[in-house]
Amino acid sequence: MNAIEIRNLSKSFRGMYAVNHLNMTVPVGSIYGFIGENGSGKSTTEKLICGHLVPDGGEIKLFGRDYTDAGVRVRVGALIENAGCFPGSSVYQNLMMQAINLGIENPDEEINRVLKIVRMEDSATIKFKSCSLGMKQRIGIAMALLGDPALLILDEPINGLDTDGMRIMREILVDITKTYGCTVLISSHILGELEKIATHYGIIRQGRMIQELSAKEMEARARVFTSLKTEDMQAAEKVLKEKFKSVRSEDGYVRVYDVDDTEEIVEYLYQRGHVVSEIKKNKIGLEEYYIELMSKKENEDYANA
Ligand SMILES: Nc1ncnc2c1ncn2[C@@H]1O[C@H](COP(=O)(O)OP(=O)(O)O)[C@@H](O)[C@H]1O
Ligand SMILES: [Mg+2]
Repeated sequence: MNAIEIRNLSKSFRGMYAVNHLNMTVPVGSIYGFIGENGSGKSTTEKLICGHLVPDGGEIKLFGRDYTDAGVRVRVGALIENAGCFPGSSVYQNLMMQAINLGIENPDEEINRVLKIVRMEDSATIKFKSCSLGMKQRIGIAMALLGDPALLILDEPINGLDTDGMRIMREILVDITKTYGCTVLISSHILGELEKIATHYGIIRQGRMIQELSAKEMEARARVFTSLKTEDMQAAEKVLKEKFKSVRSEDGYVRVYDVDDTEEIVEYLYQRGHVVSEIKKNKIGLEEYYIELMSKKENEDYANA
């Protein structure tokens, strides 16, 4: 079953598509990384799913039911933009106000439950305005977790966090999916971080979904390359280009793409007077995969124009 299934979803502002006949499939239990440059339509899509905006057309299903179904709406928690907290009130008081708004039974118990998930059980009495950015983001997540949602929608929750803040956030998100069986849709442009936790990706460009794939599929599709150093790198690069299709310099190494056998490369260079001093085999990460996909798309657009 899918937590989210979107077909042909569109939303325009002043005659311009923000979301343009978008399709999206988010499997239950996944951490779905929603990727795209600024203005590509991520937040608009998330607001549509949450019912904060009304679509021009298309279909949104959550857990197999229409997204307006009241029974399914209560299973969705979201943090889009900020949590809307009162700065002078404590973390606990803010959560209590929200819990009461939601009509949650045993609010105290529920607040303690969500505080524990976001690792803030010892910070309940701190005023919201005294919290760090990382804590504020976690309070936002705690708010969204009230009522035990089956689907959590987060808009750029790791923006602006330091390394430690990002690590805690990562642990929390994995915990939410693994321990609580919640599905997480998370938009982010910090691909290196996303890559550490996402099980699926959706890549959006100009309001359209241009590719959806699982982390496994990405792993399988990601090109392998060999990075190496020699005494005269420029000459080595030139020689390699005569035999191998895809060769270029990057980060102080010559890279040879899509060749499995590193021995073949070393031997080939050796026979032409270049001794390899350092060599390592790599796979391109999400960041490079994304950049390559985008440049391919741009070339296509250019060709079709
Ligand atoms: N309320 C709005 N009114 C007018 N235009 C909007 C509004 N919200 C978003 N847009 C436009 O829709 C496009 C997509 O925006 P958004 O969904 O915020 O992208 P992202 O979250 O990927 O950065 C942008 O061109 C943005 O300017
Ligand atoms: Mg946005």
